[in-house]
Amino acid sequence: MTQDKARVAVFGAGYVGLVTGACLADLGHTVTVRDVVADKVTALSRGNVPIYEPELDALLARNYERLQFTLDVGEAIEGAEFVFVCVDTPPTYAGDADLSRVWTVVDELLRLAQGAIVVMKSTVPVGTGEKVRAALDARGLDHVGYVSNPEFTAEGTAVRDFLEPDRIVIGAFDGQHGDAVERLHAGIDAPVVRCDVASAEMIKLAANAFLMTRISFINEIANVCELVGADVTKVAHGVGLDHRLGSYFLRAGIGYGGSCFPKDSLSLKQLAANSGYHFQLLSAVIEVNELQRRRVVAKLEKHLGKLRGRRIAVLGLAFKPGTDDMREAPSLVIASRLLAEGANVRTWDPVADARTLLTGADQCETALEALDGADAAVLVTEWPELGELDWGDVRRRMANPLVVDGRNFLDPAEMRALGFVYEGIGRAAPPFAGLPETPERDAETEAEAAS
Ligand SMILES: NC(=O)c1ccc[n+]([C@@H]2O[C@H](COP(=O)([O-])OP(=O)(O)OC[C@H]3O[C@@H](n4cnc5c(N)ncnc54)[C@H](O)[C@@H]3O)[C@@H](O)[C@H]2O)c1
Repeated sequence: MTQDKARVAVFGAGYVGLVTGACLADLGHTVTVRDVVADKVTALSRGNVPIYEPELDALLARNYERLQFTLDVGEAIEGAEFVFVCVDTPPTYAGDADLSRVWTVVDELLRLAQGAIVVMKSTVPVGTGEKVRAALDARGLDHVGYVSNPEFTAEGTAVRDFLEPDRIVIGAFDGQHGDAVERLHAGIDAPVVRCDVASAEMIKLAANAFLMTRISFINEIANVCELVGADVTKVAHGVGLDHRLGSYFLRAGIGYGGSCFPKDSLSLKQLAANSGYHFQLLSAVIEVNELQRRRVVAKLEKHLGKLRGRRIAVLGLAFKPGTDDMREAPSLVIASRLLAEGANVRTWDPVADARTLLTGADQCETALEALDGADAAVLVTEWPELGELDWGDVRRRMANPLVVDGRNFLDPAEMRALGFVYEGIGRAAPPFAGLPETPERDAETEAEAAS
């Protein structure tokens, strides 16, 4: 299918909206990205990208002639043939997806031209398309099309994922609208899944739930490996070579986080519950993930005893490498638990800033600064920088050589050869190494630990 170059509006200049806008511009379309946050729009208009996403800066710069940023709805939808909805859908207190921003956008589209198509990229519960369709009709916009086109990009590789996707899912009420959205993607070589709107919405939620299930599954296997003396990295390798299973999402660790998996699993669980179905497997997946992060604290306590007054370096804060996104990052739970136990927490991340989220912790400029004098280090996000550290030097700087590697990122044999007590996830665990000396604490540290 080919498509003349189109005029596209994108609502939401976040992780998905910016990548969508930049990639559609790269395909030759003219794109106006609209957001409600003035600082974001001003920064983008000046060529400054407010998020960290590899390749995005270059892509935006390369296509600046076809890209505009605005706060103004009228400017965005003027002459738009497609309106992509890329606003955030965070969880409500009830765990359902909060669609308030989606509804705001629907209310903002009153002047959409005949023949325009609203394309839903935000992750929404199944049934949302039906409701939006009815709302558009009720507002006299029955001449406007609606297509569900869920987004599968992963932060850190989003640009490549958009331009080289595994598939493009297009769910439409009217086949012609689906055709138009398919043509808009001309230039991208990928299978296209055409279906009804509800199925497209479910494909997104089911795909995420399946990926999370694999993560929680291998984490439970890892926990059993620790008890029976097997090595989960070898187990995952052996399992993943089975072509029926594949090796993706079989890396044991401290569990998933981020802006999508936690909220989307909860949203699917509640969608099922609201529909009268108890989704037991998904409930277990969520609970395993929650417990997995907390096991880190037990691993530290095994070697350090009570953590009060201990200095712990938390290495990596973003929910995964390649992004600055702190939403639902496991580091927040781990650092908060350590702070609650009275530990002195020093954190480091190359791009993410958690100073306002973890007010009780000290965020350091370098990993070495966080590690200096530490009683233990917890590797939370597998940033490549951590693989490049001179761990021999780290060993000399730390007060006590305990490393809990939450991502099985470091080589246990090398770490032990350097004199570390190394604890991975689902790997043969070292015996209790004997408590290190309690650090001498001055009155100020003592008071901090007690408060
Ligand atoms: N982040 C991901 O990698 C990813 C991947 C797949 C799907 N999704 C889904 O895509 C959606 C967007 O996620 P995100 O991570 O980009 O969120 P985000 O929070 O990074 O960005 C959302 C943007 O929408 C803006 N916004 C809110 N109301 C608006 C309005 N009325 N008009 C214009 N802009 C408005 C916000 O100011 C914000 O900049 C969510 O539903 C998410 O679940 C995200």
